[in-house]
Amino acid sequence: MRKPCLSCLLLSSILLACSGLLAQQKIDVHTRNMSLVLTIGPNGKLYQSYLGTRVAVSSTPSDTLVESYAQGGGSYLFEPAIRIVHADGNPSLDLRVASWGTDSTDGNIRVTSIVMKDPVYPVTVVLELKSYVRENVITSGVRISHAEKEPVRVSNFASSMLHFHADSYWLTQWHGDWAREMQMDESRLTSGIKIIDSKLGTRADMYQTPAFLLSLNGKSTEETGEVLAGTLGWSGSFQLLFEVDEKDRLSVLPGMNPYASDYVLDPGKTLKTPEFIFTYSDGGRGRASRNLHDWARSYGVLDGKGPRMTLLNNWESTQFEFNEQKLDTLFSETRKLGADMFLLDDGWFGNKYPRNDDHTSLGDWQEDRAKLPHGIAMLEKDAAEKGVKFGIWVEPEMVSPKSELYGKHPEWVLKLPNRAENYFRNQLVLDLVNPAVQDFVFRTVDDLLTQHTGIAYLKWDCNRMMTNAYSPYLGSRQSNLYIDYVAGLYAVLERLRAKHPSVPMMLCSGGGGRTDYGALKYFTEFWPSDNTDAVERVYIQWGYSYFFPANTIACHITSWGKEPLKFRTDVAMMGRLGYDLDVSKMTEKELGFSQQALKDYRRLSAVIGQGDLYRLLAPYDAQRAALMYVDSDKKKAVLFGYVLHPRYGSVWAPVKLQGLDGARTYRVKEINRYPGTPAVLAEDGRTFTGEYLMKTGIGVLGKKELTSAVVEITAE
Ligand code: DGJ
Repeated sequence: MRKPCLSCLLLSSILLACSGLLAQQKIDVHTRNMSLVLTIGPNGKLYQSYLGTRVAVSSTPSDTLVESYAQGGGSYLFEPAIRIVHADGNPSLDLRVASWGTDSTDGNIRVTSIVMKDPVYPVTVVLELKSYVRENVITSGVRISHAEKEPVRVSNFASSMLHFHADSYWLTQWHGDWAREMQMDESRLTSGIKIIDSKLGTRADMYQTPAFLLSLNGKSTEETGEVLAGTLGWSGSFQLLFEVDEKDRLSVLPGMNPYASDYVLDPGKTLKTPEFIFTYSDGGRGRASRNLHDWARSYGVLDGKGPRMTLLNNWESTQFEFNEQKLDTLFSETRKLGADMFLLDDGWFGNKYPRNDDHTSLGDWQEDRAKLPHGIAMLEKDAAEKGVKFGIWVEPEMVSPKSELYGKHPEWVLKLPNRAENYFRNQLVLDLVNPAVQDFVFRTVDDLLTQHTGIAYLKWDCNRMMTNAYSPYLGSRQSNLYIDYVAGLYAVLERLRAKHPSVPMMLCSGGGGRTDYGALKYFTEFWPSDNTDAVERVYIQWGYSYFFPANTIACHITSWGKEPLKFRTDVAMMGRLGYDLDVSKMTEKELGFSQQALKDYRRLSAVIGQGDLYRLLAPYDAQRAALMYVDSDKKKAVLFGYVLHPRYGSVWAPVKLQGLDGARTYRVKEINRYPGTPAVLAEDGRTFTGEYLMKTGIGVLGKKELTSAVVEITAE
C-alpha cells in the first residue's frame, strides 16, 4: 500500500481544521411539516439528529450517535452507505464535512448540498437533499467523484441513509410477478438485516417493488400512526436494506443494487446515485400517499398536472393480427365509443421478418408492408379523418435474434461470450451502454415522431430483464453494466425529451415492470399490469395508489376477466381510463353505457387525476373496497365502492367519507348506472352535510358480488 502523499496530508490538515470550524453546526432540512436535522460532529463527521414532524432545530439533540452516511472499511460495524476501495487497494473511506449550503430554487424547493471529503484520499461525496416544502417530500441523492491517479472501485452507494429509534418497526412491502403485481404484505422488522431487492437490470420491479412504507411504534392505519413512505427513482436493479442493530435502532439504506456492481470509477468522473423520494406523516398512510401524489404531479411525472387522453388499444382484441382495413374499422370504433385516441400496439413492423408473433423483428422498426402497405402516414391521415388521435407501441431497447438488426450488429447485443444465448420472450437486450446503440434507440423513436407528426402518444415497452448479461462495449468493466445500462437509457430519454418535450408516453414493461420515478419524469403514465381482470385490478391499483397519483395509472377495460362490464368500467375509472376490447362485439346497451361512462369520466377526470385520494375500505380487510378523490377546494368528489366476492350474508356498514368540508352541503348522485338496473346508493340524489357524510356515511356498497357504484358528490 502506498504512503499518502504530502499534498494529501496537507489537505487532510486543512480539512480537519475546516471541520473544526463547522463542528456542531446543525443542518436543518425541512418541509412545511417534516424535519430532517443533521449535525456536524466535533470530528467533522456528519450525524443524523432527528427525522420526524417539523420541529425547531433547537429542540433536536446534539449527540453524535448515528452517522448520517456511514462509510465502510473503517470502524463502522454495520451495513455502510458507501464503500470504496482506493486505487492503492486501501478499502476504507473516512468522510468529513468540507462545506455545506442551502439554495432555494423556486421558492418551494430547498436544495441542501453537503460536501464531504476524505482527509487522506482525494475522494469527494456530495449528499444532496432536496426538500419540497409544500408537498412535504424530501429527495436524497449522492454524487461520488475522486482525483486519484487510477480508478477506484465503489461497492456500496446508497442514495440515502436514514435512522430511526422506535419501539417497533413495521414494514409494508409490495411484491408479485407478471400479472400479479403489487401484492401488499406487512411484517415486523426484527434484529438483523432485511433486504428487498431486484437483480433484473432493465427494470426495477417484477418480483419486488422499489417502494415501502415504514410504520414506527406500532402499525399505522390510513388515518393514524407515524409513517415514512419512500420510493427509489431507478429503473434497474435496486436494493432497499433495513438493519435493526443491537440497540434496536433501525437504519434504512435505499439505492441501486450493489449486487455484481462494484463500480469502477475513473478519476474526474462522477457516479451519481438515483434519488430516494420520501415523506413522513404522523397522520397515517393516507396523508403520506397524498404528499407523494402532490409531489409527483408537480415534479415527478411529465406533465403531471395536464389532462390525459382516454383511448382504445388493440392488443387484447387483435394481438398481432391486423391490417390497414382492420385499423380503419378500429379508428371508427374509437370514434363511436367516444375515446380520444386509438393506440396501435405490437406487430406493425418488420419486413424480412414480419412481426406476426413475438419471435421476430424487434429492432426492424419499419412498417410491415404486407399489413400496412401505405405505412404509418396513412394511419395518421385516417385517424385524423375519423377525428381521433393516433398512438403507437415501440420496444426500442430490444432485439429479436430473428431480425435484420441482429444480423447487422451482433456486437450491439448483451450476451455472454462462450455461453448460449438466453432468451426471455424470445428476445435479447441491446447494449445501451454503447453510445452507438443509444444513438440507434434515440433515432428509432425520434424518426417516428419527426416523420409522423400525427403520432400523438407512444407506448414504450420493455419485455425482458437481463440474464446472461455481458456488454461487449464494456470489456473488462462488466461490473459497471447494471448501472451504466440505466444511465444509457436515461441519456436516450433525456435527448428525446429535449427534442420532443411534450408527446405523452406510457411506460410499460411487460406489465408493471417499470413503475418508478426515475423513468416517470420522462413519461406521463405507466402500465401497471397485463392483468386486467377487474377484481385483480382492485388490488393492483390499490397497491400503486400508495405511491402514484391516479392520472399516472393506466387502467383499461378488457375481456380478460368475466366481471360485468359495469364493474370493469367502475374499476378502470379510478385511474386513467382506457379500453382494450372488441367494440364491435358490444351490445347496443353496452355501447351506450360505455359512451356515457366516457363522457362522465371526461367531466370528472380532473378530480380523479388531480384530487386528494382517500382510501376508505381496503380490499385486504374484507371482500369489498372503497376510495374517493376530492378536489382541492372540496367542491367536488368522486366515490368508488366495489363488492368483490363476499361470504354469504356479509353486511356492510355505511361508508364514512373523508376529506370533505364538514360545514358544506353536498348532493350525492350515483353515476355510471347500467341501463335498467337500480341504484346501489340508497341515498341517491339526496343532500347531506359534509359532517354527515364523514361521520355517519352512506351505503355505497351493494349486496351482490361484483357490483359497484360510482358516486359524484357536489357541493351545493
Ligand atoms: C407487454 C405489454 O404489457 C402489453 O400491454 C403489450 O403491449 C405487449 N407487451 C405487446 O407485445
